[in-house]
Amino acid sequence: MRLRNIPGARETIAESPWIVQDPAQCKGHWREKFKDTDTLHLEIGTGKGKFINQLAVRHPEIGYIGIEKYSSVLIRALDKLGESGAENLLFIRGDAELVCEFFEEGEIDRIYLNFGSVAQGQARQEAPSQQGVSQEVLRHPVG
Ligand SMILES: C[S@@+](CC[C@H](N)C(=O)[O-])C[C@H]1O[C@@H](n2cnc3c(N)ncnc32)[C@H](O)[C@@H]1O
Repeated sequence: MRLRNIPGARETIAESPWIVQDPAQCKGHWREKFKDTDTLHLEIGTGKGKFINQLAVRHPEIGYIGIEKYSSVLIRALDKLGESGAENLLFIRGDAELVCEFFEEGEIDRIYLNFGSVAQGQARQEAPSQQGVSQEVLRHPVG
């Protein structure tokens, strides 16, 4: 994905109520941030947020969290959230390598890692360095 600097992106991200500014402080308490849900799904590398926004609209009973490293990309996901009006979606602007600092062991029910796309002729696959850490925060680890 090409990254363009977007003026004001950092400031917008820092002020948005949909971006959790202190994710490490929420460790073990993420369910309290959502209304009426016991289920939390996490997307690592949310990008422009199309995938997670669609899921959030389709499944209002699930709480969704998207992590994205770059403000200039995440700002697009915020735009999409504004359009969809989903109230069950929050974002973290940060490095997914730190996922164990953000979430308690077993706190997350499902993790999505969509890197690459079929349309681009790439396999949608998990970033290798994140396979290990992401397992630790799953309620029911797989494999
Ligand atoms: C190929 S895009 C996928 C976007 C989206 N998940 C999808 O399926 O369309 C991968 C995204 O992961 C982000 N990313 C890569 N490494 C990351 C990391 N360590 N922590 C958080 N985000 C990361 C990139 O900035 C990029 O926006």
